[in-house]
Amino acid sequence: MSSSMELWTVCLSLFINHGFAGKMKIVEEPNTFGLNNHFMAQGSRLQPKATPSPASGPVHLHRLAGKCFSLTESTYKYEFCPFHNVTQHEQSFRWNAYSGILGIWQEWEMANNTYTGMWMRDGDTCGTRNRETKVIFVCSTSSKLAQVSEPSTCVYSLIFETPLVCHPHSLLVYPTLTEKLQGEWDEAEQARYEGLITEQVEQFG
Ligand SMILES: *[C@@H]1O[C@H](CO)[C@@H](O)[C@H](O)[C@H]1NC(C)=O
Ligand SMILES: *[C@@H]1O[C@H](CO)[C@@H](O)[C@H](O)[C@H]1NC(C)=O
Repeated sequence: MSSSMELWTVCLSLFINHGFAGKMKIVEEPNTFGLNNHFMAQGSRLQPKATPSPASGPVHLHRLAGKCFSLTESTYKYEFCPFHNVTQHEQSFRWNAYSGILGIWQEWEMANNTYTGMWMRDGDTCGTRNRETKVIFVCSTSSKLAQVSEPSTCVYSLIFETPLVCHPHSLLVYPTLTEKLQGEWDEAEQARYEGLITEQVEQFG
């Protein structure tokens, strides 16, 4: 059912319940009804293209799963649900205000033994590709979505502030590995170290 149809139904039922006095009141407030109905319609209209991956990475961050953090910037409200999704909702009274998925949780970006960003991919179509979002975790005294930008078309960048990453080891990859992977990592590091020694010996020997 379209928003305008819902609005009409609400108006009609109020009219029947309250007669002309009620009708006068409704004419003053159609936007309130439109907005409420509209936001409910928005939620159900979003069709995810993918299912989120299971939570992964630092275990102490898994408690963020199931929570959502929002930021309203000019006419858009952004919502970040860690290990789930990022969505965007135009704050407008228009019946067809834009609402979309900017990414579904997929995987961590890692560099230098550190989790450097949470990738949310397979968002709504944008030309020939899908919208995607990288969420960067930054230490702060409270958890909040602090910043949203679009560094390249349909690729979004979010800054999420949280006390959960203030410890210098909180985003290290190594402690999150299984014993087996730690063993493989140690071997690779050892080989790399020996490679460096060999290189130096060749260079300076
Ligand atoms: C986004 O994630 C939240 C939190 O898990 C969930 O309630 C909501 O339905 C998700 N939205 C979409 C469009 O997948
Ligand atoms: C890699 O991580 C170490 C320890 O956290 C840091 O000191 C170093 O600057 C990082 N290097 C790069 C290239 O980011």
